[in-house]
Amino acid sequence: MPSDYNHLLDATIQHIEDLKSRGVKNIAVSKETLRALAQSPPAKSQILNLQPQIQFAAPVAKTQATISMPAPVATPKSEITSSLPEKAAAFTALRERALSCVKCPHLASSRKNVVFGVGNIDAQLMFVGEAPGADEDAQGEPFVGAAGQLLTKIISATGLSRADVYIANILKCRPDTPGQLSGNRKPTAEEMKTCLPYLHEQIDLIRPKVIVALGATAVEGLLGKTVGITKLRGNWQTYRGTPLMPTYHPAYLLRNQAMSEKRRVWEDMLAVMEKLEMPASEKQRNYFLK
Ligand code: URA
Repeated sequence: MPSDYNHLLDATIQHIEDLKSRGVKNIAVSKETLRALAQSPPAKSQILNLQPQIQFAAPVAKTQATISMPAPVATPKSEITSSLPEKAAAFTALRERALSCVKCPHLASSRKNVVFGVGNIDAQLMFVGEAPGADEDAQGEPFVGAAGQLLTKIISATGLSRADVYIANILKCRPDTPGQLSGNRKPTAEEMKTCLPYLHEQIDLIRPKVIVALGATAVEGLLGKTVGITKLRGNWQTYRGTPLMPTYHPAYLLRNQAMSEKRRVWEDMLAVMEKLEMPASEKQRNYFLK
Protein backbone atom coordinates (compact mmCIF):
# COMPACT_ATOMS: atom_id res chain seq x y z
CA MET A 1 0.00 0.00 0.00
CA PRO A 2 1.39 3.45 -0.80
CA SER A 3 2.53 5.09 2.44
CA ASP A 4 0.75 8.36 1.53
CA TYR A 5 -2.48 6.43 1.25
CA ASN A 6 -1.89 4.78 4.65
CA HIS A 7 -1.24 8.14 6.20
CA LEU A 8 -4.41 9.67 4.75
CA LEU A 9 -6.46 6.61 5.68
CA ASP A 10 -5.19 6.76 9.28
CA ALA A 11 -6.10 10.45 9.46
CA THR A 12 -9.59 9.75 8.12
CA ILE A 13 -10.14 6.90 10.60
CA GLN A 14 -8.88 9.11 13.42
CA HIS A 15 -11.25 11.90 12.38
CA ILE A 16 -14.23 9.51 12.26
CA GLU A 17 -13.30 8.04 15.67
CA ASP A 18 -13.10 11.58 16.93
CA LEU A 19 -16.59 12.42 15.63
CA LYS A 20 -17.90 9.18 17.17
CA SER A 21 -16.40 10.02 20.55
CA ARG A 22 -18.22 13.36 20.39
CA GLY A 23 -21.58 11.67 19.81
CA VAL A 24 -21.89 11.95 16.02
CA LYS A 25 -23.79 8.81 15.06
CA ASN A 26 -24.23 9.15 11.30
CA ILE A 27 -22.14 10.48 8.46
CA ALA A 28 -23.84 10.75 5.07
CA VAL A 29 -21.64 9.20 2.38
CA SER A 30 -22.60 8.71 -1.26
CA LYS A 31 -22.66 5.33 -2.99
CA GLU A 32 -19.75 6.44 -5.19
CA THR A 33 -17.57 7.15 -2.16
CA LEU A 34 -18.48 3.82 -0.55
CA ARG A 35 -17.62 2.08 -3.81
CA ALA A 36 -14.30 3.94 -4.01
CA LEU A 37 -13.48 3.06 -0.39
CA ALA A 38 -14.17 -0.62 -1.07
CA GLN A 39 -11.67 -0.64 -3.92
CA SER A 40 -7.93 -1.24 -3.61
CA PRO A 41 -5.79 1.82 -2.72
CA PRO A 42 -5.78 4.38 -5.50
CA ALA A 43 -2.68 5.73 -7.13
CA LYS A 44 -1.35 8.98 -5.66
CA SER A 45 -2.72 10.96 -8.61
CA GLN A 46 -6.21 9.67 -7.86
CA ILE A 47 -5.96 10.57 -4.16
CA LEU A 48 -5.23 14.16 -5.08
CA ASN A 49 -8.34 14.26 -7.23
CA LEU A 50 -10.82 13.41 -4.47
CA GLN A 51 -12.71 16.67 -4.22
CA PRO A 52 -15.79 16.18 -2.08
CA GLN A 53 -18.72 18.46 -2.76
CA ILE A 54 -21.72 18.62 -0.51
CA GLN A 55 -25.07 18.94 -2.17
CA PHE A 56 -28.26 19.71 -0.32
CA ALA A 57 -31.18 17.44 -1.05
CA ALA A 58 -34.78 18.66 -1.24
CA PRO A 59 -36.14 19.78 2.15
CA VAL A 60 -37.62 16.60 3.50
CA ALA A 61 -37.79 15.67 7.17
CA LYS A 62 -34.24 14.30 7.14
CA THR A 63 -32.08 16.04 4.56
CA GLN A 64 -28.93 14.14 3.65
CA ALA A 65 -25.70 15.70 2.53
CA THR A 66 -24.05 13.59 -0.13
CA ILE A 67 -20.40 13.48 -0.99
CA SER A 68 -19.84 13.13 -4.71
CA MET A 69 -16.59 12.51 -6.53
CA PRO A 70 -16.19 14.16 -9.91
CA ALA A 71 -14.39 12.40 -12.73
CA PRO A 72 -10.59 12.65 -12.34
CA VAL A 73 -9.25 15.87 -13.83
CA ALA A 74 -6.00 17.73 -13.30
CA THR A 75 -6.33 19.32 -9.85
CA PRO A 76 -4.92 22.81 -9.32
CA LYS A 77 -2.50 22.88 -6.37
CA SER A 78 -4.71 25.24 -4.38
CA GLU A 79 -7.47 22.63 -4.37
CA ILE A 80 -5.31 19.67 -3.37
CA THR A 81 -5.68 20.48 0.32
CA SER A 82 -9.46 20.17 -0.02
CA SER A 83 -9.39 16.41 -0.58
CA LEU A 84 -11.30 14.87 2.28
CA PRO A 85 -8.50 12.81 3.85
CA GLU A 86 -6.06 15.72 3.72
CA LYS A 87 -8.64 18.04 5.16
CA ALA A 88 -9.44 15.53 7.92
CA ALA A 89 -5.74 15.23 8.75
CA ALA A 90 -5.27 19.00 8.85
CA PHE A 91 -8.41 19.35 10.97
CA THR A 92 -7.25 16.69 13.42
CA ALA A 93 -3.87 18.41 13.76
CA LEU A 94 -5.55 21.79 14.32
CA ARG A 95 -7.91 20.29 16.89
CA GLU A 96 -5.00 18.73 18.76
CA ARG A 97 -3.23 22.08 18.88
CA ALA A 98 -6.37 23.80 20.20
CA LEU A 99 -7.02 21.10 22.80
CA SER A 100 -3.61 21.61 24.34
CA CYS A 101 -3.67 25.41 24.08
CA VAL A 102 -2.63 27.34 27.18
CA LYS A 103 -2.28 30.79 25.58
CA CYS A 104 -4.83 32.19 28.04
CA PRO A 105 -3.52 30.64 31.29
CA HIS A 106 -6.57 31.82 33.29
CA LEU A 107 -8.95 30.04 30.87
CA ALA A 108 -6.74 26.96 30.54
CA SER A 109 -6.80 26.50 34.30
CA SER A 110 -10.54 27.13 34.74
CA ARG A 111 -11.87 25.11 31.79
CA LYS A 112 -13.12 21.55 31.96
CA ASN A 113 -12.83 21.09 28.20
CA VAL A 114 -11.65 22.97 25.16
CA VAL A 115 -14.73 23.31 22.96
CA PHE A 116 -13.20 23.08 19.51
CA GLY A 117 -16.25 22.70 17.24
CA VAL A 118 -18.59 20.04 15.91
CA GLY A 119 -20.11 18.88 12.66
CA ASN A 120 -19.25 18.29 9.05
CA ILE A 121 -15.81 19.53 8.06
CA ASP A 122 -17.09 19.72 4.48
CA ALA A 123 -20.17 21.72 5.40
CA GLN A 124 -21.54 24.39 3.12
CA LEU A 125 -22.99 26.14 6.12
CA MET A 126 -21.11 27.13 9.25
CA PHE A 127 -22.48 28.72 12.43
CA VAL A 128 -20.24 30.78 14.67
CA GLY A 129 -21.22 31.70 18.22
CA GLU A 130 -19.55 33.56 21.03
CA ALA A 131 -18.00 31.19 23.56
CA PRO A 132 -18.86 28.01 25.43
CA GLY A 133 -21.14 28.25 28.45
CA ALA A 134 -21.17 25.90 31.44
CA ASP A 135 -22.93 23.04 29.57
CA GLU A 136 -20.59 23.30 26.60
CA ASP A 137 -17.55 23.41 28.90
CA ALA A 138 -18.79 20.28 30.68
CA GLN A 139 -19.50 18.36 27.47
CA GLY A 140 -16.75 19.71 25.20
CA GLU A 141 -19.26 20.50 22.45
CA PRO A 142 -20.61 23.89 21.31
CA PHE A 143 -24.27 24.82 21.61
CA VAL A 144 -25.57 21.93 23.72
CA GLY A 145 -27.24 24.02 26.49
CA ALA A 146 -30.61 25.76 26.24
CA ALA A 147 -29.46 28.19 23.52
CA GLY A 148 -27.85 25.29 21.71
CA GLN A 149 -31.06 23.30 21.74
CA LEU A 150 -32.80 26.24 20.14
CA LEU A 151 -30.04 26.50 17.53
CA THR A 152 -30.51 22.79 16.79
CA LYS A 153 -34.24 23.46 16.21
CA ILE A 154 -33.44 26.37 13.88
CA ILE A 155 -31.07 24.14 11.90
CA SER A 156 -33.70 21.38 11.71
CA ALA A 157 -36.30 23.87 10.49
CA THR A 158 -34.14 24.45 7.39
CA GLY A 159 -34.21 20.71 6.65
CA LEU A 160 -30.62 20.18 7.78
CA SER A 161 -29.24 18.52 10.90
CA ARG A 162 -26.36 19.42 13.20
CA ALA A 163 -24.28 16.76 11.45
CA ASP A 164 -24.72 18.55 8.08
CA VAL A 165 -23.35 21.90 9.27
CA TYR A 166 -20.30 22.96 11.26
CA ILE A 167 -20.68 24.80 14.57
CA ALA A 168 -17.89 26.68 16.32
CA ASN A 169 -17.31 29.66 18.58
CA ILE A 170 -15.05 32.69 18.61
CA LEU A 171 -13.55 31.43 21.89
CA LYS A 172 -12.75 27.77 22.42
CA CYS A 173 -12.66 28.02 26.22
CA ARG A 174 -15.39 29.10 28.58
CA PRO A 175 -14.75 32.66 29.82
CA ASP A 176 -14.00 32.23 33.50
CA THR A 177 -16.20 33.91 36.10
CA PRO A 178 -14.12 33.88 39.29
CA GLY A 179 -16.16 34.31 42.45
CA GLN A 180 -19.42 33.75 40.57
CA LEU A 181 -21.42 30.56 40.97
CA SER A 182 -23.32 30.98 37.72
CA GLY A 183 -23.61 33.19 34.67
CA ASN A 184 -21.44 33.91 31.68
CA ARG A 185 -19.30 36.83 30.65
CA LYS A 186 -18.42 38.26 27.26
CA PRO A 187 -14.92 37.34 26.04
CA THR A 188 -12.38 40.15 26.38
CA ALA A 189 -10.79 41.70 23.29
CA GLU A 190 -7.47 40.09 24.28
CA GLU A 191 -9.05 36.62 24.64
CA MET A 192 -10.74 36.98 21.26
CA LYS A 193 -7.54 38.10 19.57
CA THR A 194 -5.65 35.18 21.07
CA CYS A 195 -8.21 32.53 20.13
CA LEU A 196 -9.36 33.77 16.72
CA PRO A 197 -6.52 32.19 14.70
CA TYR A 198 -8.01 28.75 15.49
CA LEU A 199 -11.38 29.82 14.06
CA HIS A 200 -9.74 31.39 11.00
CA GLU A 201 -7.96 28.09 10.35
CA GLN A 202 -11.19 26.14 10.82
CA ILE A 203 -12.95 28.34 8.28
CA ASP A 204 -10.01 28.13 5.86
CA LEU A 205 -10.16 24.34 5.98
CA ILE A 206 -13.94 23.94 5.85
CA ARG A 207 -14.38 26.65 3.22
CA PRO A 208 -18.14 26.98 3.86
CA LYS A 209 -20.29 28.70 1.25
CA VAL A 210 -22.10 30.68 3.95
CA ILE A 211 -21.27 31.64 7.53
CA VAL A 212 -23.96 32.58 10.03
CA ALA A 213 -22.64 34.79 12.82
CA LEU A 214 -24.78 34.35 15.93
CA GLY A 215 -24.90 37.60 17.86
CA ALA A 216 -22.80 40.71 18.20
CA THR A 217 -19.67 39.04 19.60
CA ALA A 218 -19.47 36.61 16.68
CA VAL A 219 -19.82 39.54 14.26
CA GLU A 220 -17.17 41.51 16.14
CA GLY A 221 -14.76 38.56 16.14
CA LEU A 222 -15.20 37.74 12.46
CA LEU A 223 -15.66 41.18 10.93
CA GLY A 224 -14.16 43.49 13.53
CA LYS A 225 -17.46 45.43 13.47
CA THR A 226 -18.99 46.67 16.68
CA VAL A 227 -22.15 48.00 15.02
CA GLY A 228 -25.23 46.81 16.93
CA ILE A 229 -26.56 43.43 15.88
CA THR A 230 -30.05 44.93 15.52
CA LYS A 231 -28.73 47.09 12.68
CA LEU A 232 -26.57 44.42 11.08
CA ARG A 233 -28.79 41.35 11.22
CA GLY A 234 -30.43 40.36 7.97
CA ASN A 235 -27.83 42.22 5.90
CA TRP A 236 -25.26 40.16 4.02
CA GLN A 237 -21.67 40.83 5.00
CA THR A 238 -18.45 39.30 3.69
CA TYR A 239 -15.83 37.41 5.68
CA ARG A 240 -12.69 37.05 3.51
CA GLY A 241 -14.84 36.57 0.41
CA THR A 242 -17.40 34.27 2.07
CA PRO A 243 -20.98 35.55 2.46
CA LEU A 244 -21.77 36.04 6.13
CA MET A 245 -25.25 36.50 7.58
CA PRO A 246 -25.39 38.15 10.98
CA THR A 247 -28.39 37.16 13.06
CA TYR A 248 -29.50 37.22 16.66
CA HIS A 249 -27.91 34.79 19.10
CA PRO A 250 -30.39 32.04 20.10
CA ALA A 251 -29.89 33.08 23.75
CA TYR A 252 -31.53 36.39 22.81
CA LEU A 253 -34.54 34.51 21.46
CA LEU A 254 -34.79 32.65 24.76
CA ARG A 255 -34.88 35.98 26.60
CA ASN A 256 -37.25 37.62 24.13
CA GLN A 257 -39.92 35.15 23.07
CA ALA A 258 -41.76 37.59 20.77
CA MET A 259 -42.92 36.02 17.52
CA SER A 260 -41.55 39.03 15.62
CA GLU A 261 -37.99 38.29 16.81
CA LYS A 262 -38.29 34.61 15.93
CA ARG A 263 -39.52 35.62 12.49
CA ARG A 264 -36.52 37.95 12.04
CA VAL A 265 -34.09 35.12 12.72
CA TRP A 266 -36.12 32.84 10.48
CA GLU A 267 -36.03 35.40 7.66
CA ASP A 268 -32.24 35.47 8.01
CA MET A 269 -32.23 31.68 7.71
CA LEU A 270 -34.49 31.82 4.64
CA ALA A 271 -31.96 34.19 3.06
CA VAL A 272 -29.20 31.72 3.93
CA MET A 273 -31.19 28.85 2.39
CA GLU A 274 -31.71 30.88 -0.75
CA LYS A 275 -27.99 31.67 -0.99
CA LEU A 276 -27.28 27.94 -0.71
CA GLU A 277 -29.93 27.19 -3.32
CA MET A 278 -31.86 25.09 -0.82
CA PRO A 279 -35.54 24.93 -1.74
CA ALA A 280 -37.95 26.28 0.88
CA SER A 281 -41.51 24.99 1.02
CA GLU A 282 -44.55 27.26 1.41
CA LYS A 283 -44.84 25.98 4.98
CA GLN A 284 -41.21 26.87 5.71
CA ARG A 285 -41.62 30.34 4.21
CA ASN A 286 -44.54 31.01 6.52
CA TYR A 287 -42.97 29.96 9.83
CA PHE A 288 -43.59 32.52 12.60
CA LEU A 289 -46.02 34.56 10.54
CA LYS A 290 -49.25 35.21 12.36
N1 URA B 1 -23.45 30.34 23.38
C1 URA B 1 -22.45 30.43 22.47
O1 URA B 1 -22.21 31.48 21.92
N2 URA B 1 -21.78 29.34 22.19
C2 URA B 1 -22.03 28.14 22.74
O2 URA B 1 -21.37 27.17 22.40
C3 URA B 1 -23.07 28.07 23.68
C4 URA B 1 -23.78 29.19 23.98
